[in-house]
Amino acid sequence: MSAEMKRIMVTGAVGQIGSELTMALREKYGNDNVLATGHKTQPSKTLLESGPFEFINVSKRETFDDLIKKYRIDTIYHMSAILSAAGEKNPKLCWDVNMNGTSNILDAAVDHKLVRVFIPSSIAAFGPETPRLNTPNDTILKPKTMYGVTKVAGELLCDYYVKRFNVDVRGCRYPGIISYETLPGGGTTDYAVAIFFEAVKTKSYTCFLREDSRLPMMYMPDCLKATFDLMEADFSKLKHHSDFNVTAMSFSAGELAAEIKKHIPEFRVAYEPDFRQAIADSWPQSIDDTAAREEWGWKPDYDLTRMTEDMLGVLQKRFEAGTLNY
Ligand code: SER
Repeated sequence: MSAEMKRIMVTGAVGQIGSELTMALREKYGNDNVLATGHKTQPSKTLLESGPFEFINVSKRETFDDLIKKYRIDTIYHMSAILSAAGEKNPKLCWDVNMNGTSNILDAAVDHKLVRVFIPSSIAAFGPETPRLNTPNDTILKPKTMYGVTKVAGELLCDYYVKRFNVDVRGCRYPGIISYETLPGGGTTDYAVAIFFEAVKTKSYTCFLREDSRLPMMYMPDCLKATFDLMEADFSKLKHHSDFNVTAMSFSAGELAAEIKKHIPEFRVAYEPDFRQAIADSWPQSIDDTAAREEWGWKPDYDLTRMTEDMLGVLQKRFEAGTLNY
């Protein structure tokens, strides 16, 4: 990251990505230089004791505007969002948090002359009319979920702020993110995390997607790497801004189960698709991330085999120590 990015605020810092991103940023830039913010959910002891934390509501700018001054923030990672499945249960809330949140962060970037902002998008930006295999970066964006609608609008808004107000904002379309520190909440790809915890804990799992549902995915270390690499890229060389496709692997629920069975042969999976199946069916099966590779050198480290080994290694140790917490 460039020298001028010294004082960072993370929104959604209690969430799946935000919690690990905050700790990685604190490691890189110093605990006191990274303000973690959340909304209602109590932060972990680790997050709370390692640096500053404040409760905010991203859809109400007055709840965080003074914090930008107080902490002399120059960079924001805007990770708070209502995900796809939760968004279908409460579309109005999804619109409010995702759209007003993004718009408030961008306005704050202009008014406080922030150095840089990260606002992620998602594979949810795509829809059933999009080519589902090797989905190109620049393609049809007609999502059918409220979450997807807010992500496409967010991407367009970011581009608008780049052009109109010279804001340095970047972001990528995260695929499903797999991790073991903080559980995801309200997403369609959440099964790919739950399956690991259940495999270790109960040796059985009932999946809410069909066995042949294939989606693009990424392991948390690659998610953090993509985020940092994009934030460090030379802005003048970027042709895209907040809509980079990134991927690391694609697998079906059945293929993930088979990979886990290589380590835990007695593991059993049942499939009982619910309303999230229609969401998964409207998303790509695999992603073409050539633009990210060409414009800022994106390259993932983890494939299905390596990610599964790592996940199970960590969770098995926790299970044996009685600290799985699931
Ligand atoms: N993981 C997200 C979801 O399933 C996709 O961005 O909603």
